[in-house]
Amino acid sequence: MANKVKNTALVTSVKKVTEDVFSMWLKDEEIAKMAKPGQFVSLYSASGDKLLPRPISICEIDAKEGLLRLVYRVVGEGTKEFSKLNVGDSIAIMGPLGNGFTLMGTKAILIGGGIGIPPMLELSKQLGIETQIVLGYRDGDTFLSNEFAKYGTVYLATDDGSVGTNGNVIDAIKENQLEADIIYACGPTPMLKGIQSYALEHNITAQLSLEEKMACGVGACLACVCKSKEVDGHSHVHNKRVCKDGPVFDAREVTL
Ligand SMILES: Cc1cc2nc3c(=O)[nH]c(=O)nc-3n(C[C@H](O)[C@H](O)[C@H](O)COP(=O)(O)OP(=O)(O)OC[C@H]3O[C@@H](n4cnc5c(N)ncnc54)[C@H](O)[C@@H]3O)c2cc1C
Ligand code: FES
Repeated sequence: MANKVKNTALVTSVKKVTEDVFSMWLKDEEIAKMAKPGQFVSLYSASGDKLLPRPISICEIDAKEGLLRLVYRVVGEGTKEFSKLNVGDSIAIMGPLGNGFTLMGTKAILIGGGIGIPPMLELSKQLGIETQIVLGYRDGDTFLSNEFAKYGTVYLATDDGSVGTNGNVIDAIKENQLEADIIYACGPTPMLKGIQSYALEHNITAQLSLEEKMACGVGACLACVCKSKEVDGHSHVHNKRVCKDGPVFDAREVTL
């Protein structure tokens, strides 16, 4: 079986979740069969002036029905175009891309921040171990939070203190005295940096999903490199390609 394909997927559902966040289901049996939590797909714009695809994480996988769920925030022209798709439309998609999370451990803290929350939903479904889920938001618009409740105990943190812990996800971990032997996280770099320090300090294995601006999305252009502790076999420098070597890395592997 090929490990990634470029297909035309059918839009089967589009819902507005908050003012600027959308949830969309796509029918693509081939990608849905291969996909793992933490992997992403590249979505192509229908208009020829935007050649570069947009990377979006896989939020949920229904391999049986051949469906993938994507949850995305409208930030620019590409995501604006995707937000206007309707049921029955089709879209060019490549995937599954990247390496995803490795399921391990016996007791997990699963952490999502902002638009890093969507990929944690499929992971929480597949983990099958005791899971504490910490979700960080800017404010009370806590999209997706109630969908996590059936997979673990959910703790919220908001920057403005309107819901849950007043502060960030590390503040919520400390306030609730959470312990684990594995941490899985996806979110903005400052959040991941804090989690990396926390994990190293407490000697907990952590898998971090990084976000970088991407161009090719398949490891060819080096637009997405991050700093690594080890020398990379492809470029022979202290670099890792987030699209191909990641987006998920062991916290000990990367310098944030
Ligand atoms: C591995 C990965 C997974 C992601 N998963 C999600 C997700 O599940 N939900 C979600 O809302 N967003 C996600 N993003 C961010 C998303 O890719 C960008 O918001 C999107 O590409 C912006 O495109 P645009 O045309 O709307 O914005 P523009 O700013 O117009 O984009 C211009 C160019 O920059 C690139 N770009 C801009 N911002 C980003 C970014 N943050 N990361 C990578 N490339 C960027 C675009 O792909 C495009 O080529 C993810 C990013 C990565 C790298
Ligand atoms: S985006 Fe081209 S190498 Fe990662």
